[in-house]
Amino acid sequence: MIMGGKSLKGSVSISGAKNAAVAAIPAALLTEGVCRIDNVPNIKDVDVLLDIMRHLGAKIKKIGTDALEINCEKIHSFTVPYEMTKKMRASYYFIGALLGRFNHAEVSPPGGCCFGSRPIDMHIKGFEALGAKVNIDRGIVEAHATKLESAQVFLDVVSVGATINIMLAATRVNGTTIIENAAKEPHVVDVANFLNAMGANVRGAGTDTIKIKGVEKMAGGSYTLIPDQIEAGTFMIAAAATRGDVLIKNVIPKHLESITAKLVEVNATVEEFDDSIRVSRNGPLHKANVKTMPYPGFPTDLQPQTVALLSMAKGTSIVTESVWDNRYQYVDELRRLGAQISVDGKIAVVEGVEKLSGANVKATDLRAGAGLVIAALMADGVTQMHDIYHIDRGYEGLELKLNSLGAQIVRRNSGKSLINEKGIAYV
Ligand code: EPU
Repeated sequence: MIMGGKSLKGSVSISGAKNAAVAAIPAALLTEGVCRIDNVPNIKDVDVLLDIMRHLGAKIKKIGTDALEINCEKIHSFTVPYEMTKKMRASYYFIGALLGRFNHAEVSPPGGCCFGSRPIDMHIKGFEALGAKVNIDRGIVEAHATKLESAQVFLDVVSVGATINIMLAATRVNGTTIIENAAKEPHVVDVANFLNAMGANVRGAGTDTIKIKGVEKMAGGSYTLIPDQIEAGTFMIAAAATRGDVLIKNVIPKHLESITAKLVEVNATVEEFDDSIRVSRNGPLHKANVKTMPYPGFPTDLQPQTVALLSMAKGTSIVTESVWDNRYQYVDELRRLGAQISVDGKIAVVEGVEKLSGANVKATDLRAGAGLVIAALMADGVTQMHDIYHIDRGYEGLELKLNSLGAQIVRRNSGKSLINEKGIAYV
């Protein structure tokens, strides 16, 4: 239950990057030694991955509030069943990691999702280039190689998942594998840095071309994940949306440049510091056009939050989704709050309204859920939000952090206080 109309004020700390964590955890399978990963976000997707890791034979020790020690010395299964993967999309990283260490993987990745079919043809192209035979039978992807060989892979589509997955598969392959037209997202760089900290030799991550010189063994090591760019962007947008004034701590401002630029365009004030960013707004919200693009463009994972923000801007904003085919299902929910948005294919036309009003809505996916939370914070009255499990998949204590900034959000039947499971009071 979200009581709208409150300005967010104060400071909030950003957790570790979900999309780096969901790759680094399976990547630990590549090492015989012990991997320690710090700044792991406390989210449901991580819990699901850890269950899969245990199922494969990994020993996991949780240390303190946000660190994990993973020991993959004795892996006894190369099979990840559908019952375990259906809960999260990024389970496809088990294919690259198991193939890269054991030359064999059987993973049942989920098919489509709420924003359209999510093909993995580029991942498969990479595995096959490395010499694996890939078979897909009744939804189970079986990848097998007698011996993997280094290769040059050109990605026809810039894909975060394929870039990381090919990197994982190639880490221990003799020779140098080259990925061209690689994704450049901060979490791609983070996973490469993680692999290097474990003993791999990956160069060029963050550019179009990544070179992976295969190493024989990976000894383990320790690594701290980067802060979550999308969580940070969500709080930046929420601060601007609510006429707030929020210091967002533990961020890498460089990763947030496209968001900063857009917020300035809509009339927010953004101040950058070394590892924090302050967002405030006093004046009216201006319209803006937004086009989602691979990094360093504007992230698709902030598109719903941005549409929510623009729903109360003066004038008409045009939003173009150019990464996913179908990422506007949540628009029907925003309309329930009074937003005036029409969608035609990849384009949403957002006619700014003067007021939104609380209503019953449901989260249709993770980022849609965050967008609806922002809209509910802007709306007059109370919004009841359903299917919030989507939000728990990828945001650590979203409502607790927002409440610490002055929001009034109650999770029904949870009895949670402002102190989260880690004992942190989000200040
Ligand atoms: N694509 C292909 N073939 C492939 C792979 C992708 O055609 O083999 C297409 C997709 O259909 C899409 C585009 O390429 O149109 C980009 O997909 P990408 O592979 O980059 O997406 P992903 O790796 O499946 C990750 C994030 C998503 C984020 C996208 C884009 C993870 C676990 N997920 O997905 O994050 O939207 O990159 O930046 O890293 C989220 O966090 O809410 C989320 C959905």
